[in-house]
Amino acid sequence: IAIAEFAPRLITWQRQFGRHDLPWQLTRDPYTIWLSEIMLQQTQVSTVIAYYLRFIERFPNLTALAHAPLDEVMAVWSGLGYYSRARNLHRCAQLLMTEYHGQFPNQVNALIELPGIGRSTAAAIAVFAFGAHETILDGNVKRVLARVFGIEGFPGEKQTENAMWKLAESLLPPHSEPATELNDLAMQAYTQGLMDLGATLCVRGRPACTRCPFQTGCAAHLSGREKTLPTARPK
Ligand code: ADE
Repeated sequence: IAIAEFAPRLITWQRQFGRHDLPWQLTRDPYTIWLSEIMLQQTQVSTVIAYYLRFIERFPNLTALAHAPLDEVMAVWSGLGYYSRARNLHRCAQLLMTEYHGQFPNQVNALIELPGIGRSTAAAIAVFAFGAHETILDGNVKRVLARVFGIEGFPGEKQTENAMWKLAESLLPPHSEPATELNDLAMQAYTQGLMDLGATLCVRGRPACTRCPFQTGCAAHLSGREKTLPTARPK
């Protein structure tokens, strides 16, 4: 598929067939969006939902989280695993209170400096909370791009990963200055579309190519490489 056709087709698909009722999609509050993105880093949506709802009930905002004792935060996180996420979350909340006037920065470059926030998480927060024109690139998105654009090479390898970031940036929907509400909504549908396609159709194992908006323009599908892309970790 042509670079310029990718975003409009994904946005149209997301609006018709994507997920619209995940609890963190009902808000633009940076605090709850940040929380959801941290939980979703290593845990699947179906598990995260109950923990997310319980967490925001107990710690409804940054102030509540920053002022809570760490052991209480750990107790509410208990069961989700990857506990350094919870320690970073608490540390980040305290840092935002003391150094950032209790406000999340709205730029990827600033978000990325915070504990527990990598490049893709920073982009997801910037898009969903602030409508930023930035690309995410997590494991699901790497799989989608490797297949649709026929990218060979193990995505855990720096060179392949760098090429994927460049490609992902080139695929973003067109950007208008000043940004408008419609523009923000397009970026949000686009970003959610990348996540939804990777999580619901373009899955590992047996992808559902017959329902995919890129079926007719997917390099992997056209050449029968759905099973071998993305390239496995070299032995
Ligand atoms: N995985 C990472 N972020 C996500 C989000 N906001 N919605 C669904 N899955 C995700």
